[in-house]
Amino acid sequence: MPEFMDPFTGMAPGRKLTARELCRALRMSLSAEQEAINLYEALADATDNALAKKVLQDIADEEREHAGEFLRLINILLPDEAEFLAHGAKEVDEMAAELKPKKAAKKPAAKGRAAKNITK
Ligand SMILES: [Fe+2]
Repeated sequence: MPEFMDPFTGMAPGRKLTARELCRALRMSLSAEQEAINLYEALADATDNALAKKVLQDIADEEREHAGEFLRLINILLPDEAEFLAHGAKEVDEMAAELKPKKAAKKPAAKGRAAKNITK
């Protein structure tokens, strides 16, 4: 289970973060944003109060933007991150393509007696 309360979990205090530690902290921050999105959307779904629903969804959407900011920053700080993400996305695209219904092969035109019967 992630530890969201301490952004420096597992890191030595009293010094600046290394690049690797910073990226680890940013990933934890990204996870915290995702957790917040789930929380606010669950609360929005759980109420019939229109104002609360609207405000909670607005906040959830803002958290989605924050998640995008963290992800972008991680991608800038880790040059190979985008490549890993693209590879993962490609794998999912391939699986999705496998599940797509195949187009039916075009049937050859009917010939002979059967074709003549159709036109009667
Ligand atoms: Fe946020």
